[in-house]
Amino acid sequence: MNLKNHEFLEKNSIVLLITIILVVLVGGIIEIIPLFREGTVIERVEGVRPYTPLELAGYNIYIREGCYNCHSQQIRPLRDEVARYGHYSLAAESMYDHPFQWGSKRTGPDLARVGGKYSDAWHVAHLTDPRSVVPESIMPTYAFLKHRAVKTDDLDKHLSALRVVGVPYTDDMISNAVNDATIQATGDPLTDTAGLLGRYGEKTVARDFDGQGNVVSEMDALVAYLQVLGTMVDFKAAQEVENEVINK
Ligand code: HEC
Repeated sequence: MNLKNHEFLEKNSIVLLITIILVVLVGGIIEIIPLFREGTVIERVEGVRPYTPLELAGYNIYIREGCYNCHSQQIRPLRDEVARYGHYSLAAESMYDHPFQWGSKRTGPDLARVGGKYSDAWHVAHLTDPRSVVPESIMPTYAFLKHRAVKTDDLDKHLSALRVVGVPYTDDMISNAVNDATIQATGDPLTDTAGLLGRYGEKTVARDFDGQGNVVSEMDALVAYLQVLGTMVDFKAAQEVENEVINK
C-alpha cells in the first residue's frame, strides 16, 4: 500500500476501524483454526493408559503440593537431556494429564522418567526427609503425607470429570474407582488385584508403596504416581523400530 492510501486510512476513522477489525479477525482465525485440529497431531503410542485411581490421587497431591514448581516432566530432544533422563518425551505420554505437568522450571531434576529409577523405600525416605538420602538436597520435606489418609471416596467423580475432557475411563473403571485405589495400595497381589489389572493392564503395579500395612496414605498415592512416570511406553521396542528404519 502506498503512502497516500495510508493517509486515507489514517484520516478516516471509520474505515480505519473496519480495517483493524478485519485484520484482527483474520489473525484470530489463523491462531484458532489449528487448535480445532489439535487431536490429529498427537500420535497414539502403545502402552499409554489413563492413571489408575491411586495414581490419579498421587497426581492430584503432586499438583496440590506444587511439585511442578521445582520439577519438570518434559525431556527435550537435546543430547544432554536424553543422555541424563532417557528418551525424549512424546506428546502422547501426557495426553491424559489434565493439566499436563511439563513445568517450566527445574530447581530439581526432570521427573518424566523417574518411575522405576528408585525403590519405593527410597522415595518414602526421600519425601520424608530429602537430606537423609541426598545430603545436599534443598527439597522441602513431605513427611506428613505418611500420616494422612488419601481421600478415596470421591475418586469416581475425578474419573468421571476426566472422561468429560476425553480420558477414556470406562463405566467399569468409574464404578470400581474407590475400591481399586485401596486394592492397589493394600491388596494381596495374588488374589485381589485381578480386577484392577484387567481394567488397567497387566503392567499395573499393586503393592504397599509406603510400607505401612493396611493404610492407604497420601504417601502411597504419591509414590504410586512417581513409580509409573515414564514406564508406560516401552522405549526399548520403540528404539529398535527407529534403528530398523535408520538402517534400511
Ligand atoms: C523447592 C524445590 C523443590 C520442590 C518444591 C520439590 N522438589 Fe523434588 N527435588 C528438588 C531438588 C533440588 C532435588 C535434587 C536433590 C534431591 O534428590 O533431593 C529433588 C529431587 C527429587 C526427586 C529425585 C529425582 C531424581 O531423579 O533423583 C524426586 C522423585 C522428587 N524430587 C520428587 C518431588 C515431589 C514428589 C515433590 C512434591 C511433593 C517435590 N519433589 C518437590 C527440589 C524440589
